[in-house]
Amino acid sequence: MKIAIVGTGYVGLITGTGLSSFGIDVTCVDIDKEKIRLLNSGKLPIYEPQLKDLVQNNVKEGRLHFSSDLENVIRDNNVIFIAVGTPPKADGSTNLAGIQDVAKTIGKNLNSYKLIVNKSTVPIGTGRYVRKIIEEYSDGKYEVEVASNPEFLREGAAVRDFFHPNRIVLGTSSEKALSILTDLYRPLYLLETPFIKTNVETAELIKYAANSFLATKISFINEMANICSKTGANIADVSEALGLDQRIGKKFLHAGIGFGGSCFPKDLRSLVKQADSLGYDFILGKGVVKVNENQRKYAFNRISDAFKDGLKGKTIAILGASFKPETDDIRESPAIYLAERLLKSQATVKIYDPKALNNAKAALPELICASSSYEAAINADAVVLATEWNQFRHLDLHHLKSVMNGDLFFDFRNVYTRQEAENAKLKYFAIGK
Ligand code: UGA
Repeated sequence: MKIAIVGTGYVGLITGTGLSSFGIDVTCVDIDKEKIRLLNSGKLPIYEPQLKDLVQNNVKEGRLHFSSDLENVIRDNNVIFIAVGTPPKADGSTNLAGIQDVAKTIGKNLNSYKLIVNKSTVPIGTGRYVRKIIEEYSDGKYEVEVASNPEFLREGAAVRDFFHPNRIVLGTSSEKALSILTDLYRPLYLLETPFIKTNVETAELIKYAANSFLATKISFINEMANICSKTGANIADVSEALGLDQRIGKKFLHAGIGFGGSCFPKDLRSLVKQADSLGYDFILGKGVVKVNENQRKYAFNRISDAFKDGLKGKTIAILGASFKPETDDIRESPAIYLAERLLKSQATVKIYDPKALNNAKAALPELICASSSYEAAINADAVVLATEWNQFRHLDLHHLKSVMNGDLFFDFRNVYTRQEAENAKLKYFAIGK
């Protein structure tokens, strides 16, 4: 079996590589020639644990190919996944320009029956829209179907998630399309992965519903944490007790400085916008977004309020730049938000992150990059733990304090206990405890 994946971003690259591991011949295609050149030279445009070895193995075994010749790849394949970016527009709605371009090119190069599979997160109804564009641009000689197969990969754990998914969602409009897709995922089917077989619109909504629900859990627990701060209650115990209720579950109940990344903020705003245009007021979604925006502002204010004479001229060390551990992705990262606000307040900001320093420096050139947590802390008036990389979980707080100028420690991921910080003579600020 052979397939094509259009778009070698995060989703496309992992999906293509994963499917080629199943023995399928996969061509990943991208209009970004530089990206394809990089991939063909054995390098990856992103950091993701385990991905490099997997790509190299599949390339070596001749099942994974990279190309920038979109037209030929379309003509050469009957099953084409679309995994191009769907960035947000300024008003929160989804920019479908990339999807439209691919659909037009498919239409112009339709030379046989084709099954188009939307892997990108796209507004409900996009499947139908893509089919319409393809039909408009083709001569009507060949049949085309559009399916939806949303992805639920987490950055930093994407390879593991690909091979051990909680479920595979297949939204199709014919038995033929369903059977092609079931066949593609046969190894997971044999492993008894649950398959949700549904229509295209439902599959499209499932993706938004999953992300919105997870984001809701985070905003909910952050609000509980803020209530804790005002009452002397402890969010760690609240989370544990809630999580032990099996109807709630313990995942995604870690209070912090709010969710970031390329998915939750964008998908939530998009669903709010989609609901708006359907004449439905998605009140809960709006609240989740608002709480998340406030959470990072609240974190900044905590730092700012701790300096009675202002932030100007102060040195702040930030530990972590990526939006979460095990990725170099800084999109919508709360750490970057804090760094930006601190720089605007004329503080000197030193930052350390195991993987995301280059991206951080590119986004905010005034940042001073350090090569370790302790180097970042030298002469700092405050240290802010913004991303809970494993290596920040066992810091020698005595050593940290000894190189600092001040004694403020903002543990915005609730990694340490107050006692541990105070033993090291640090003034401890956490979220909700
Ligand atoms: C998320 C979903 O988890 C994936 O299932 C989905 O495929 C993906 O979006 C997507 O739509 O492509 P991801 O953005 O990689 O994956 O990150 P998550 O691990 O879900 O974390 C998102 C944010 O929530 C991070 O900033 C994280 O720090 C924050 N978070 C997470 C919390 O603040 N508290 C928690 O308890 C959990």
